[in-house]
Amino acid sequence: MKLILLGPPGAGKGTQAKLIVDKHSIPQLSTGDMLREAVKFGSKIGKRAKAVMDAGKLVSDDIVIGIVSDRVDMENCKNGFILDGFPRTLQQADALEAMFEEKDMALDAVIELEVDDDALVERVAGRFTCGTCGEGYHDKFKLPVTPNKCDKCGENNFARRADDNEETMRSRLRAYYKETAPLVGYYYAKGFLRGVDGMGTIAKIAADVDNILKSA
Ligand code: AP5
Repeated sequence: MKLILLGPPGAGKGTQAKLIVDKHSIPQLSTGDMLREAVKFGSKIGKRAKAVMDAGKLVSDDIVIGIVSDRVDMENCKNGFILDGFPRTLQQADALEAMFEEKDMALDAVIELEVDDDALVERVAGRFTCGTCGEGYHDKFKLPVTPNKCDKCGENNFARRADDNEETMRSRLRAYYKETAPLVGYYYAKGFLRGVDGMGTIAKIAADVDNILKSA
């Protein structure tokens, strides 16, 4: 199964992607995570991406397309993958289509998570992650069962993202509506788009996503 999760920052793409990974044993390819790794390790790409990400803008198409193209060739992608945060521009969507054609792959579905702007800001402001295993949490909506202990790996190594502040979030939302939102029409016209109400609980959204995947 080859799936795209589409939606604004904080819509729950990463949260739902992790649940699909657990259920379907296909990897989550998050361009945001890949870029943050590159920044952490100070690679050439990371150095180019850091200032752009801190400003809430989009990293250049050529960098991101190259990263994804290399990643889908890896062995653990042979049964499928979930694209989380890619494509994000019409140019990236066209490049993905060409990439699929060249690699003889086919897209199964594009799931759009629809969430109100006020809820997005609240979700991003309260987000934190386990720095050891990557499990995602929220101050209000998803706290660890035992305080200061990750549910998944048991560590107490939580971190917040540098771009999860109100000012950068406003810039990320602007970038979304200007450059990524046109992809909703792009994939609707191609017959791939499936909308999900992203305002419900994490479990309800996961059930809706699952129903779509059963028929994809
Ligand atoms: P990226 O890492 O992709 O960030 P994003 O798209 O802004 O999305 P987020 O990770 O912020 O949100 P999400 O939808 O995954 O929400 P989550 O599940 O965590 O990109 C970061 C930056 O990298 C970009 O700004 C750009 O600079 C660069 N970049 C990345 N890809 C690029 C590309 N293709 N091209 C160019 N540049 C690129 O949920 C958020 C919070 O809400 C969590 O705390 C969660 O617990 C909680 N939550 C989730 N669902 C619910 C729910 N239903 N109810 C209540 N709380 C919920």
